[in-house]
Amino acid sequence: MKELVIKLLKKALKAKKVKIKEEQIDKLLEIPPNIELGDYAFPCFFLAEKFKESPEQVALDIREKIGTPPATDFEDIQTQGPYINFFFNRKSLAKKLVWNAINKKENFGKSKIGDKKKIIVEFSSPNIAKPFGIGHLRSTIIGNSIANLCEFQGFKVIRLNYLGDWGAQFGRLLVAYKKFGNEKELQKNPIEYMLNLYVKANKKQFDKLAAEEFKKLENGEKEEVMLWRTFKEYSQEEFNEMYQKLGIKFDQQLGESMYGKKMKETIKELKNKDLLKKSQGAQIVDLTKYGLGVCLIEKKDGATLYATRDLTSAIDRYKKYKFDRMIYEVGKEQELYFNQLFKILELMGYKWAEKCIHVIHGHYLDKDGRRFSTRKGKSVFMKDILTETISLAKKEIKKRSPKINESELEKRASKIAIAAIFYGDLKNNRKNNALFDIKKFVSFEGDTGPYIQYSYARASSIQRKAKNSQKFEVYDLENIEIELIKKLLEFPDIALKAYTFLNPSLIANYAYKISKLFNEFYHSCPVIGSKSEMFRLALVEAFRQIIKNCAHLLGFELLEEM
Ligand code: ARG
Repeated sequence: MKELVIKLLKKALKAKKVKIKEEQIDKLLEIPPNIELGDYAFPCFFLAEKFKESPEQVALDIREKIGTPPATDFEDIQTQGPYINFFFNRKSLAKKLVWNAINKKENFGKSKIGDKKKIIVEFSSPNIAKPFGIGHLRSTIIGNSIANLCEFQGFKVIRLNYLGDWGAQFGRLLVAYKKFGNEKELQKNPIEYMLNLYVKANKKQFDKLAAEEFKKLENGEKEEVMLWRTFKEYSQEEFNEMYQKLGIKFDQQLGESMYGKKMKETIKELKNKDLLKKSQGAQIVDLTKYGLGVCLIEKKDGATLYATRDLTSAIDRYKKYKFDRMIYEVGKEQELYFNQLFKILELMGYKWAEKCIHVIHGHYLDKDGRRFSTRKGKSVFMKDILTETISLAKKEIKKRSPKINESELEKRASKIAIAAIFYGDLKNNRKNNALFDIKKFVSFEGDTGPYIQYSYARASSIQRKAKNSQKFEVYDLENIEIELIKKLLEFPDIALKAYTFLNPSLIANYAYKISKLFNEFYHSCPVIGSKSEMFRLALVEAFRQIIKNCAHLLGFELLEEM
């Protein structure tokens, strides 16, 4: 709709011999502080000097040049002192919104700019042999939402999980298991047991032994490989359970362990392309002239490293998918590392290296502003967080519906808990650190996931009370209705922006805004029984559809009743 205003202004200004770009007009346009002053206002101060006229006079002149615009688009265009104020035809806006939302449904707001091009979104990527920790939660939530945002714009998205299932740490675990471990204990509570074992061997005195064990694993020796496989299976089980609870799905699961032989080829290729250098017995790629330090590729004893595996995996992924873009959703502490990785791929001559991007996120902070990943020196496990959040959600639900039955309570509480956690993360710009406070997250009031769910449930309850009918007439609109309609119409633009900046917080913040407007509308405009019943019902339906589309993009579900 803004484009219409810009067009009219451009034409009028041209008639007054003012050369101005559309972007400039766009920047100058203001949204008046209240809608009684119109939907957009154009300030004329900047032309006063040029015309040696007062800004008020300039406004009048330009207004005259605009002439009479089509009544379907504009109700009125007036001058107010030095401003030209544009009033859209709000009834047409209302019809347009309702028509779009009700007919396009889950497709409302989608675009086809992706043209089915392939985007790989790698996210989550936890390390095995320890519990799924809060450290990988941000990547899981944000990566999932980014994948949804890309899909919404018509890309073919491949959701990829890259397990940290290889590396020197497994040497340590093997040492510990052989020295202190036994199968019975492992079976009882595998994940915590492995973690405790690992801690036992994470000491300097075991460095040498651990390196030897990892070497054996890399050489494919039977006993070590079998043990490693057991560790992996237990972890996999636990992760799958967690993903299922969170409603997260992947198209492909890769692991660092998958590149045994291929890694040797990568190292050879680096050598042939003259990129490897010996340094204290190890093989490195020297990137100092690019300001990126050095990247370790092979240890003195021939053991491979994180980077060796990532290079190999990237090459493999390109062979397999010929992706148009590959996103790595990983914390900002790995920024230098990913810059090294992409630089090396570029130096190896892979043009597609420029299609790889590292999408960063900040840390979780607790109430006191401290890093959240460890509490009293202990790691924070997702399992515990989820249990705690669900029990908080149950309390909230019982406050409102004391008679709710157990199975319904269970179902609702887990959906609310997930919305609480996901929204609590996604409302923050991902690049910043984010407060992680489940008590706040779970509240039904304020800027929270449950509040969004609650607004939807309210809208659904109105819908349940109504008779269905598609026909309506738009009578004079209340201000709050106009505001709600205008905001709802912004959804396609917001979705596009969120994709462009790979920034789900734009969707989260938008969902909060429309929920707030909806609640204001709900309080001041009766629906059932009013003269505008049919139109208002359609508006409620439009809100329901758009908030549902937002929740889908953010990765959580809504509830018909709360
Ligand atoms: N597992 C790694 C970690 O926890 C993250 C993997 C990120 N992805 C990658 N391709 N390097 O640090």
